[in-house]
Amino acid sequence: MSKDLNVLEFYSGIGGMHYSLIDACKDSDFKPKVVASFDINNQANKVYFHNFNRRPVQKLIESIPVSKYSTYRADMWLASPPCQPYTRQGLQKGSNDERSKSFLFLLNSIPKLEKPPKYILIENVKGFEISDTRNMMMEALKDMYDCQEFLLSPLQFEIPNSRIRYYCLAKLKSLKFKYDIPKDKILNYIPGNEFTKYWEDNQDKTSVGIVEDEELKNVVVKQLKEFLEENIDENKYKLTEKSLSRYGLLYDIVKPSQKRSCCFTKGYYHFIEGAGSILQCNEDVDTKETLEEYKLYKEKRNEILKKEELDEKQKEEECKKLDNPLNKLNLRYFSSREIARLMGFPETMVFPEDSSLKQQYRLLGNSLNCKVVAALIKYLLSEKDDKEKNTEKEELENDSKKRKLN
Ligand SMILES: C[S@@+](CC[C@H](N)C(=O)[O-])C[C@H]1O[C@@H](n2cnc3c(N)ncnc32)[C@H](O)[C@@H]1O
Repeated sequence: MSKDLNVLEFYSGIGGMHYSLIDACKDSDFKPKVVASFDINNQANKVYFHNFNRRPVQKLIESIPVSKYSTYRADMWLASPPCQPYTRQGLQKGSNDERSKSFLFLLNSIPKLEKPPKYILIENVKGFEISDTRNMMMEALKDMYDCQEFLLSPLQFEIPNSRIRYYCLAKLKSLKFKYDIPKDKILNYIPGNEFTKYWEDNQDKTSVGIVEDEELKNVVVKQLKEFLEENIDENKYKLTEKSLSRYGLLYDIVKPSQKRSCCFTKGYYHFIEGAGSILQCNEDVDTKETLEEYKLYKEKRNEILKKEELDEKQKEEECKKLDNPLNKLNLRYFSSREIARLMGFPETMVFPEDSSLKQQYRLLGNSLNCKVVAALIKYLLSEKDDKEKNTEKEELENDSKKRKLN
C-alpha cells in the first residue's frame, strides 16, 4: 500500500534535495510530494522551475509566519541552510552570523506546529558539527526527536569526488531509527549500508579536499571517465593562455582514468586553488614530469618579466615565444553536466538555455550530492523490521525479569 509523504524543502537551490527524495523513494511504498520549497535566489529558482515546473517561494524563510508552515502539515522537512557561517574560509561566527538566523527560526518553529514533521534531514559543511548552531539545533530537537549525525563523502558511494558533508537525521521519538547508534557519536558510515563501511576508521582522511590515489586502493570507486561527456566541445572548456602561464601550479589536475576529483565549489571557473579539479585530456603525458618542466618555464618567464630594458608589450612578446609545457596536457574544465553527474544528479536535470556557464557552476557548487542524500533519506524512512522489534522486546522483557529476580 502506498504511503503519502508530504515534504517541505528549505533552501531549495536547484533542487538537490528534491532529486534525492525521488531517488530514495523510487522502489518503496512511499509516494513523495514536495508540497513547497523555499529559496531567495532568483537564479536558482529559475532552474528549479525549469525542471519541476513549480516555482519555490521566493521569500526569506524567517519572514514566513509559523502558522503558514503549519498549514502544509508536512511529514518531512529537508534543509540545507547556508554554510558560510561554518566554513574554514568564513569567519566561523556560527549562530552570531546573520545567515544562521533563518535556520534557528525554523528549529524554534517546530514545537509550535500543529503537526510537527516525522522526519527531518539537515545538510551542512564539515565544521558545522563543532559550531554552537549545532548545539542549539540538538537542544531544540531533543525533546521530540531522536537524532543521528553523520560525516559522509561521495567516495563512499563509488563516486570519484570528494565532498565531505555533515548530516543530521531526526525522527519523531515514537518512530525509532532502524539501528541504534552510540549517543553523541558522529558516524562516518550509514548503518546497514555496506558501501559506506570502509570509512569507519578513515574519518580524517576524507576530511581533506584532495584524497590521494593511494588512499583509495581498497575502495571501489569508479573512474572519472564514466562521468565524462562524449563528443564534448573542448574549446568551450579550455583554460585561457593567461591562466595556464600564471597559475599552472595551483590547479588540481586529474586524468580520466583516475578515481578522484576535489570538491567543486561555487568559485569553479573563477577561482583557481581549491575550487575543483581540472581534467587532463591527454592521458599519455606524465603530469608530474610536465609540472617539473613547467617550473623551469615559469623561472624563464619571471626572468623576462624582470627585464627593465623591455616595455610591457615587449615582455609579453618574449613570453609568448616560450613553450608552455602545460599545453601538452590538453587541460580543460569539467563541464556542468559532468559535475552534475559527479554530484549524483539525474540526466533529466537541465539548466535553462539562457543560464551562463558561470551561473551553472555557481549553483552546482552550492548544491549537494544527491546519491549520498538519497541513501540517508532511505535510511531515515526505514523501520526496524518485526523480527528486530521482537528481539528488542524480548531483550527488554528479559532485562526486567532479571531485575525482578535481583
Ligand atoms: C547551501 S545552498 C542550498 C542548495 C540546495 N540544497 C541545492 O540543491 O541547490 C543555500 C541556499 O539557501 C538560500 N538561502 C539562504 N538564506 C536564505 C533565507 N534566509 N531564506 C531563504 N533562502 C535562503 C540561498 O539562496 C541558497 O540557494
